[in-house]
Amino acid sequence: MSFKTADIDDLKEKINELASEKEKLFAVLSNLKEGIVVADPLNRILVVNEAASEFLNIRTNKLLRRSLKDFTENELGFFFEPLIQEKEVSDQTVVQHKSRILSFRVFFPKNQEGRLIAKGLVLRDITESQRVEELRKVFVANASHELRSPAAGLQALLDAFEVGGLENQDSRTKFMTMMNREVNRLNAIIQDLLDLSEMEREKEFAKESLDIVKLFKEWLSFYETRIQEKSLRLVFNVQEEKISLTASAADLERLFRNLMENALKYSPAGGSLEIGIKNEKTNILGWVKDSGIGIPEEHLSRIFERFYRVDKSRSRALGGTGLGLSIAKHAVERHGGKIWAESKENQGAVFYFTLPFLQGS
Ligand SMILES: Nc1ncnc2c1ncn2[C@@H]1O[C@H](COP(=O)(O)OP(=O)(O)OP(=O)(O)O)[C@@H](O)[C@H]1O
Ligand SMILES: [Mg+2]
Repeated sequence: MSFKTADIDDLKEKINELASEKEKLFAVLSNLKEGIVVADPLNRILVVNEAASEFLNIRTNKLLRRSLKDFTENELGFFFEPLIQEKEVSDQTVVQHKSRILSFRVFFPKNQEGRLIAKGLVLRDITESQRVEELRKVFVANASHELRSPAAGLQALLDAFEVGGLENQDSRTKFMTMMNREVNRLNAIIQDLLDLSEMEREKEFAKESLDIVKLFKEWLSFYETRIQEKSLRLVFNVQEEKISLTASAADLERLFRNLMENALKYSPAGGSLEIGIKNEKTNILGWVKDSGIGIPEEHLSRIFERFYRVDKSRSRALGGTGLGLSIAKHAVERHGGKIWAESKENQGAVFYFTLPFLQGS
């Protein structure tokens, strides 16, 4: 039998084509976020992409060309057993493997005659989405819990009203004061939740050119009475007359209000309070410093979390939900800035924040 040169050239071309198809396939597979393992019908492992090797925590060359059955004794058996048995698994099969949470499914492609041509395993890393889901659950639980206490307070007051404990003016006034307090508390929690959800939803938000010095002065004036009532010494530490910045006024107000409320709430009477803004060329550095109860060091990294309070009973007695600082953090971070606190127990606290002039949007 003899080949014509033309046939040989043709064959060469076909082989080259195939090789380049294979190359393409491997390039695609290695870029996939999903982990893929493919074996032939006799369980010989043909393909292991990078993601699969990472998820299963084993080097690709330790698996390639080996039999799936070689791994049934170790922890990979869990994934390989359904392939060997040709058994479907539910799409939702989720497993904790090392530090990851993986979901996996198997597939068994057949040719036109219905004969098995390969066995495949697809792995997905769902650690992050599971974590977000977990956070969401905790958030809903916390929010409901916080809403329940003023609601229960109102219910108790209404019950008392029904029983008829309000004959005289004195008890009526007391009743109204207490009702008011619970309603205010409900409103404050709802407002905080609305602020948070608005900031989370709206990735694109309106910004305008603002003079932050003027705004802070204006907002500070709302607190004059409370500052006087607490006999606090106030310093407004700003060298520049005007600092212009493109930002959301609503966010800056949320930031200012929450830091101010805390400084006032957690300071005993007779202390001092400093509000500062400084132009640092590429960004604004701002701070709110008080001489109050301070924050023990071990809590500093957690106070910006939603609902986190150093002293739950004290904070709640002062009307706190633990959302204020997470709102402030959101407001700063979505402008590309940072916020942090420095403090020691009983030695006051300073909250710093930065706001860049140029924000990558
Ligand atoms: N200036 C401060 N001095 C001392 N502790 C503070 C100060 N600011 C915040 N904290 C601590 O950090 C916790 C979280 O503050 P955050 O503002 O988020 O919640 P909150 O003030 O308790 O409630 P709210 O949602 O009403 O603001 C507070 O409960 C408090 O323990
Ligand atoms: Mg607060």
